[in-house]
Amino acid sequence: MNNIERLLDREFSRNDIVRLLSLTESEDVEKLRKKAFDLTTELLGSNVYFRGLIEFSNICNLNCYYCGIRKDNDNVERYMLSKKEIVDCAVWAAKVGYGSCVLQSGERRDGQFVSFVEACVREIKEKTRSDSMPDGLGITLSVGEQSSDVYKRFFEAGAHRYLLRIETSNQKLFSKLHPAGQDYGERKEAIKNLKKIGYQVGTGVMIGTPGQTIEDLADDILFFKENDIDMIGMGPYIVHPDSPMKEQGMKERRSLLQLSLNMIAVVRLFLKDVNIAATTALQALAPDGREQGILYGANIVMPNMTPKDARKNYQLYDGKPCINETKDECRGCLQKRIESTGRKVGYNLWGDSKHFKFN
Ligand code: 5AD
Ligand code: FES
Repeated sequence: MNNIERLLDREFSRNDIVRLLSLTESEDVEKLRKKAFDLTTELLGSNVYFRGLIEFSNICNLNCYYCGIRKDNDNVERYMLSKKEIVDCAVWAAKVGYGSCVLQSGERRDGQFVSFVEACVREIKEKTRSDSMPDGLGITLSVGEQSSDVYKRFFEAGAHRYLLRIETSNQKLFSKLHPAGQDYGERKEAIKNLKKIGYQVGTGVMIGTPGQTIEDLADDILFFKENDIDMIGMGPYIVHPDSPMKEQGMKERRSLLQLSLNMIAVVRLFLKDVNIAATTALQALAPDGREQGILYGANIVMPNMTPKDARKNYQLYDGKPCINETKDECRGCLQKRIESTGRKVGYNLWGDSKHFKFN
């Protein structure tokens, strides 16, 4: 057994995590990949689950320095889909067997917005119950930090998963990525509140932001464990030309892709039974980025269902894939991509995180 094999066979220390994340030699990386892929198969089987993504509004009140749809970016045409457009998308998802949808938007906390989201969730539930899915479509929300009361309202309306990325678990780095007033402690508190209410909670980080170290990424993984996270969505940081972080540039694409894939594999090996997304941002770095994510242990993919006219206005980073495609095109494309990895699509199933236990 060589060093890497010995390392892969024991409980990882923080140092071990740092070493694994740093691997670059193809032989070593392949050992890491295979171990993660095989553990995924052993614990979760060979299904990959679809979460049809509806980016229903790019109106945002926040000003995260990295993001293409930040409030102060005047080059973006702002939109908000109607309830009917959102519900129609979700009904389509149920019809084609997606099992779950994700409603994502820029961040707003006003009462009108909250009531709108709540009404969409209720109507999606009502309209998607069927013999094959008696509990209707699984609904994930990704609408940012809200009060605990608002999270409860969404939960009671029928949402059962929530995505809220911590972006980085390093408080200092967090404050470099966000303006004053966006507070690390509040983000962490929101994640705790979601757990308390009973959501399956997803979080994640951006990989390769300027100033971030491998040790920071190791701490991110420890953060996921400490906070008993059920679902992980991580992607490479990709610079947006209209963002204030433009001058700082980004990491070289090949090494950034490898680091992102190593993160997926190490998260799989360390957290074991969580759901991990092969995020779209991986595909911005390589045409087969999402397939590679699956080969490194991801088991979730989020096909874009946003109506085509809106897609071009929801570009969080440069070079986002699927901007000119329709939801039908993405569906066929992703099924092929998944099957090319030897996995299959878990149609008509929620594909909940096996890690989740509601106490
Ligand atoms: N590069 C990569 N990911 C980004 N996000 C926002 N901007 C960027 C960027 N420039 C991610 C954040 C956010 C998610 C919706 O998109 O992690 O939580
Ligand atoms: Fe959208 Fe391939 S997934 S075009």
